[in-house]
Amino acid sequence: METAADLSLIDPMAPVPFMVLQRREETHDTFTLSLEPPEPFHFRPGQFNMLYPFGIGESAISISGDPAAPRRLVHTIRRVGNVTAALDRLRPGDVVGVRGPFGNPWPLDEARGGDLVFVAGGIGLAPLRPAIAWAVAHRDDYRRVVVLIGARTPADIVFVEQVQEWRGQFDLEVGVTVDAADQAWRGSVGVVTMLISGADFEPSETLAMVCGPEIMMRFTAGELVKRGMTTDRIHVSVERNMKCGIGFCGHCQFGPYFVCRDGPVFRYDQVEHLLTVKEM
Ligand SMILES: Cc1cc2nc3c(=O)[nH]c(=O)nc-3n(C[C@H](O)[C@H](O)[C@H](O)COP(=O)(O)OP(=O)(O)OC[C@H]3O[C@@H](n4cnc5c(N)ncnc54)[C@H](O)[C@@H]3O)c2cc1C
Ligand code: FES
Repeated sequence: METAADLSLIDPMAPVPFMVLQRREETHDTFTLSLEPPEPFHFRPGQFNMLYPFGIGESAISISGDPAAPRRLVHTIRRVGNVTAALDRLRPGDVVGVRGPFGNPWPLDEARGGDLVFVAGGIGLAPLRPAIAWAVAHRDDYRRVVVLIGARTPADIVFVEQVQEWRGQFDLEVGVTVDAADQAWRGSVGVVTMLISGADFEPSETLAMVCGPEIMMRFTAGELVKRGMTTDRIHVSVERNMKCGIGFCGHCQFGPYFVCRDGPVFRYDQVEHLLTVKEM
């Protein structure tokens, strides 16, 4: 049977209409849209779609749902400009154009047999959530699984119920910290990098997957290296302005790479020197 993903491969520039099933407010500026694909939509954790609110424009948005649920395509979006504001106006029953899935995934196959460390900053948890769901569903394939989450304030934590669920699982180590607490917060205060020194993993047998603001990813990589990891064991997801999403237009150039084609997930040793540059 032909899937929506197959249709997109036939003409990767043609958006396919998907219906909005559900819209959920995550934080004051971030929301999650669940879409109903016309056919089962298969993707690998770390991949993204181009979402097209008709008549407005397209944005690259990571898939934030469960890869084992191909009938529900989930994206978590922060309102920053025109396209994301138009996505924010969508309600159940509305239709949005989708192209994808595009990009290289997190190296979950390569990580088999070793420890996994996920480090997320803010909405950076969105592209990591499918990978964490995968690790939970294939728990026997990995040894220790550590999830470290940082947010600016308690109100900025996304997927709160899911994070609580992970915390209740005896075979996951989950750390959550905020830069600035409110009165109700009883958890850790400080940047997410400070959770790394105390986390339980064997650096020489770990793959780390990191997503957040570029400065957070640089400091996180620095801490992981201090723990004894080599930079080829650290993976980051990079964001750049996109147009085609499939390696034609050059809009997302990142040094010698196109983020849409060669990323968005990169090995840290490939991009470390590029991350010091704000935007090219
Ligand atoms: C591979 C990939 C995955 C992404 N995943 C997500 C996601 O899961 N959720 C999400 O909310 N956003 C994600 N983004 C960022 C998202 O594509 C942009 O925020 C969005 O396109 C902005 O469009 P706009 O018209 O609303 O804002 P614009 O008016 O285009 O921009 C508003 C502001 O955001 C900045 N900006 C625009 N595009 C990007 C970008 N690609 N990267 C960094 N800054 C940008 C602009 O410089 C400007 O300051 C992802 C980007 C990439 C490349
Ligand atoms: S967005 Fe066109 S080459 Fe990457």
